[in-house]
Order: sequence, then C-alpha cells, then structure tokens
Amino acid sequence: MLTKINETASYLKSRLQGELPTLGIIMGTGLGPISELIEDKQVIPYSEIPNFPVSTVEGHSGNLIVGNLAGKRVVGMQGRFHYYEGYDMKQVTFPVRVMKALGVETLIVSNASGGMNKEFRVGDVMVITDHINFFPEHPLRGKNYNELGTRFPAMTEAYSKELVALADKIADEQQMRLMHGVYIGVTGPTFETPAEYGAYHALGADAVGMSTVPEVIVANHAGMKVFGISVITDLGGKDITDVPTHEEVQKAAVKAQPTVLKLVHELVGRI
Ligand code: HPA
Repeated sequence: MLTKINETASYLKSRLQGELPTLGIIMGTGLGPISELIEDKQVIPYSEIPNFPVSTVEGHSGNLIVGNLAGKRVVGMQGRFHYYEGYDMKQVTFPVRVMKALGVETLIVSNASGGMNKEFRVGDVMVITDHINFFPEHPLRGKNYNELGTRFPAMTEAYSKELVALADKIADEQQMRLMHGVYIGVTGPTFETPAEYGAYHALGADAVGMSTVPEVIVANHAGMKVFGISVITDLGGKDITDVPTHEEVQKAAVKAQPTVLKLVHELVGRI
C-alpha cells in the first residue's frame, strides 16, 4: 500500500505546478460547483492517475482539481468512490492517503443524505458533528502502517470542533440556516426502509448516507482535521412513506448549493 501511495503522490507532484495543496475537499453531492470557484486550476482526470479507481455513478465526474480557493492551495476530488459501486475500503479511501502524502492537513467532505431529525427540511445543510460507522468493512482492517498512523486511532473528535464553531460563526454572520447532526454511513445502494430510518434515528443519527465515514476514518488515522457537510435531500422515518429517488436527491442538492458553496468558500478562507 505504501508503494502505491508514494507512486501516485510522486506522479502528481511531478505533474502539478506551483505549491502543493494543504487543504483537501471531497466534493460530494452539493459541493460539485465549488470546482468552478477554484482559480488557476489544474484538472487531472482520475483515469490518468496511477492506482486511482474510476468513478462510475451518474452525476459524479472523476477529476482531481488543484488550484487556489479563497487564498488557499487546495486539492479537490470531483467525484468520489463509493463502497456500493464495488470498490473495497482501501480503494474508497486511497485518495485520502494520497492527499496526505501531498501535504494535506485539513479535509472538507460533503455528501447528500436522508434526514431523520424531525426538525430537518429537504434542502437543509447539516454540519456533521459526529458519525456512526455502519459499513460492514473497516478501512483500517489489516496490517497497520505506522508511517500512516497509529493502530488504534481515537475517534473522539472525528470532526474538528474548532471548524464546527467556525462554520457556526459564518452561518450566524450570513444568516444561514445551518443544522447540526450525527451522520450514519451505510452501504446502500438501496435507500432505507421506514423501519431502518426509524432504527438509525433511534441509534442517535440525524442523517443517513452512503459515503463519507470511510474517508473520515482514514483522514483521522492520518492525523488530519476534518470538516463535514451533509445536504438533506429527502426525509425518512418509520411513518414516512415518501419514495426517494436519485433525481430528487440531485434536485435537493442543487437547492442547497448556494448555502454550501458560500459556507465552504468562507470557511476555507478563514482556516
Ligand atoms: N439514504 C441513504 N443515502 C442517501 C439518502 C437516504 O435517504 N439520501 C441521499 N443519500
């Protein structure tokens, strides 16, 4: 694994011009257009990057984008790798390892999710304050490389409290509606049954989705600070019979985009 990470990082270092990025952004649903705000950018398709898997889902393109955002040097992933696509957890989280090898110290992630908290509305933006890992495979299972991180990493502050507080401050200043909540990561690709939404809510989750948790685990293992945003694209609960669709999820994500973009742009500038 170390050889692969180094090989990929070396390739990128030789291809990239200018300073290397210190901030990584995984542009999940809702955050895609942030790439348009990245200036002086270099766009590298995943297909050209050695050892990178290729993204397969409609609505997710696959490019690594390096450039300047709000005065910071950033690397953005336009399109991520989901466990439900068939990748294993090492593949899903490989780009995070590569980001770290490039010098990234802070990771911003975004996703779409189903809201279970009764106060949530479709199109709401939720800052992830904590998560529940419900994936059947752990990204750190297997040999631990001490060069990458410790065998038993703490997950007490998986999402930086400092960055959550900064986001709250920005939301306050800009009069944005910004929710807080716990994200539970599940395999998918099915959306949940009403009983499952109800069960996950009873477990302590406010939103459910099919990504993010693996990348955040690896980012924590690598010692990065993490900030996560979840766009609430549909609502689920034991008494809710609405049928979520991929199209609806995309539509709701678009609705939330102005808030997400403004928040992330502002946050990056102040980190
Ligand atoms: N469940 C799981 N993943 C999701 C959902 C959902 O309701 N909405 C968007 N991604």
